[in-house]
Amino acid sequence: MKLARSKNGSLDPVQGATGLSDPTHGARHVAIIMDGNGRWAKRRHLPRALGHKKGVEAVRNIVRVGGEMGLEAMTLYAFSSENWNRPQEEVSDLMGLLRQYIQSDIEEFVENGVRLKVIGNYKALEPDIVAMIDNAIARTAANSRMTLAVALNYGAQDEMLRAVQHIACSVAAGDVTPEAINIDHISGALDTSDLPPLDLLIRTSGELRLSNFLLWQAAYSELYFTDTLWPDFDQSELEKALQSFGHRERRFGGR
Ligand code: IPE
Ligand code: IPE
Ligand code: MG
Repeated sequence: MKLARSKNGSLDPVQGATGLSDPTHGARHVAIIMDGNGRWAKRRHLPRALGHKKGVEAVRNIVRVGGEMGLEAMTLYAFSSENWNRPQEEVSDLMGLLRQYIQSDIEEFVENGVRLKVIGNYKALEPDIVAMIDNAIARTAANSRMTLAVALNYGAQDEMLRAVQHIACSVAAGDVTPEAINIDHISGALDTSDLPPLDLLIRTSGELRLSNFLLWQAAYSELYFTDTLWPDFDQSELEKALQSFGHRERRFGGR
């Protein structure tokens, strides 16, 4: 019997996950570290910006595919809190692509029932992007087919720091005592508090590290690494990752 962590944290049998008929293989929430745009471009003697542009096309496709497969949530690492260390020209290319992506895809989110969510300190982005994001979040807030969580200016350590500050304020206000703080308080103070538990974490491009992504949430996620560069990651690649997930035996420390 396959077990999955439910929203309230209990271990329940996976429903409807017969393996063959369920393309998600029982996964509710998949996160992807979309890496390798630069190498994709370099191999073709193209500028890095073109790799990022192809990367956006891969995002568009994989969001459609994830929705069709029936995933409840997809979390995509688009810009890390450390990516500011890149040359200013590349940062501004990435911000330009982000603007274009939100503008061109918001109608499709509305039509396809995709709820947009952003994790990370996105309020620190340029004001016009923040306004665009807030507008897209508001317009898609009632959608329930799939949640697309885009990680922007995201770092797991920063997310945990903000959660600690939030909880410290509750303590200072006398709403909770330090001894009473529990795991649920912490999970609930993270940017992902309203997402299902993370089932599968994928990283493309052959790098074997988490690069400050979802460090808390990945505690019992299954990990999947592929050499495929992000612009080449398509439906069949996602199917392969989910198939691999379907063969894992998740024990959550039990036996
Ligand atoms: C991932 O591709 C996109 C972002 C981090 C924004 P990279 O730009 O990191 O591509 P590589 O790792 O240099 O190939
Ligand atoms: C991780 O990729 C961040 C994103 C995919 C947005 P990086 O390319 O920034 O990670 P490192 O620097 O190789 O660890
Ligand atoms: Mg990279």
